[in-house]
Amino acid sequence: MDSLVFFILALCSLSSTPFIESSTPPIEKLVIVDTGDGVVSTPLIIKPSEPTFYYLNLEGISVGQKTIQTGKTGGNLIIDSGTTLTYLDQPFFDDFVTSVREVIGLEERRDTPSPFHYCFTYQPSVGFPSIVLHFTGANLSLEPKNVLLLYEDNLVCLAVVPSNLEGISILGNVAQVDFQVEYDLQGKKLSFVPSNCAKN
Ligand SMILES: *[C@@H]1O[C@H](CO)[C@@H](O)[C@H](O)[C@H]1NC(C)=O
Repeated sequence: MDSLVFFILALCSLSSTPFIESSTPPIEKLVIVDTGDGVVSTPLIIKPSEPTFYYLNLEGISVGQKTIQTGKTGGNLIIDSGTTLTYLDQPFFDDFVTSVREVIGLEERRDTPSPFHYCFTYQPSVGFPSIVLHFTGANLSLEPKNVLLLYEDNLVCLAVVPSNLEGISILGNVAQVDFQVEYDLQGKKLSFVPSNCAKN
């Protein structure tokens, strides 16, 4: 399990998102764990009916030891750098949150602030499960900073919420933090290249 501390260290790359309070102290020049140079690629799917969207196919997500499957093949997730949060199609979202809840095992906040669905009080001792997105042909390992946001003092919320577009999920920009995303339109391929915000 990764420590939640990595999430706090990673705020340097989240400074432009509206969910971070402006009172958050600026953090500079922190070295984040080097993720190595594992480039992964997955087919980029452009649907003639919606040519402005870049679709990927998300086959499943692993949360700790458990993997949940979407059962989809033809492109079910839009990658969008202009969307902050990640949206998952229900009931896949419900399965995902259930898995996260099981692994974290912390009491969650009942009255979660909108638009979040799962928040808990930050505790330094809490570990966060490894989360791997299984795209067709590419496994993308996420860090806590890709799935959690600090909402207010000590309240940490899952940056993944249910989609209200049936059958459509969206990979938002929090999930893409510290990845360089390369769109190869000719080769119809999208690559994720881990990059360290502290070095850029
Ligand atoms: C992705 O991870 C799964 C489960 O660990 C594994 O079976 C699969 O071979 C991996 N795929 C790639 C492309 O690495």
